[in-house]
Amino acid sequence: MTTLLELENVEVVYHHVATAVQAVSLAVPARSIVALLGTNGAGKTTTLRAISGFLGADDARIVGGRIAFLGEEVTGRPPHELARRGLVLVPERDKVFETLTVQENLRALVPGRRAAVTPEQVFDYFPVLAERRRQLAGYLSGGERQMLALGTALLCRPVVLLVDELSLGLAPLVVEGLMAMVRRLRDELGIAVLLVEQNAAAALGVADHGYVMEHGRVVYDGPAERLLAHEDIREFYLGLGHRAGRKRYTEVKQYRRRRRWF
Ligand SMILES: Nc1ncnc2c1ncn2[C@@H]1O[C@H](COP(=O)(O)OP(=O)(O)O)[C@@H](O)[C@H]1O
Ligand SMILES: [Mg+2]
Repeated sequence: MTTLLELENVEVVYHHVATAVQAVSLAVPARSIVALLGTNGAGKTTTLRAISGFLGADDARIVGGRIAFLGEEVTGRPPHELARRGLVLVPERDKVFETLTVQENLRALVPGRRAAVTPEQVFDYFPVLAERRRQLAGYLSGGERQMLALGTALLCRPVVLLVDELSLGLAPLVVEGLMAMVRRLRDELGIAVLLVEQNAAAALGVADHGYVMEHGRVVYDGPAERLLAHEDIREFYLGLGHRAGRKRYTEVKQYRRRRRWF
């Protein structure tokens, strides 16, 4: 299978000192959904920023490793160039322009080239946005905002869509609907997706492959079904399969981390 996006030992520091991402390697094959999982502060957003070029505003820099996209090295390229090539970010926050209407949001970001889908097609994928097309985005529900953010990203013709925390703060049914939509976009438009999520269960429900980050490093990776079956992942990230005698999460984790995972 062709690899579209590949990170090799990527290292990112903030303010010249704080290392947030260390030796991260991962691959996104064509037409795949890859989950990047981990608790708050693990380094997921920083990794996505490194890939999409949005590091400068936070005084962060890639200080090691390389990022290749469609066979070319793109490490440290500016965000507009990366977006033009097809690396499109759906960011963690401020995903929509609140003071614009839904349809203005969908027009605001159209780049000077043919879109993968038209705003009308976005409305076909997300009928609720069509109903609200003249409403201000600031009045949309959390789930509708995520739909609008996904829809806007589609207009930028993504080859690999980088999605940061799609499920955050949303009800389970809404999350389920959004994840199903991610899968549908992959299936119907052939887009590959790197799905950053704290919600491991939701992401692994649609992903082909998953990586788990802790403290800036990838500590496990494998096919989604293998991660879903892994005892430690079930216990620490899915909240399932608690074993007797376990008291503190950190104690257990420290103990288990001394071993190699796979
Ligand atoms: N703008 C910033 N300046 C300095 N440190 C940051 C900044 N953003 C994130 N960090 C640090 O980088 C680490 C990884 O954060 P982040 O990538 O946001 O993790 P995640 O997305 O997995 O929650 C954390 O220790 C966090 O405190
Ligand atoms: Mg984050």
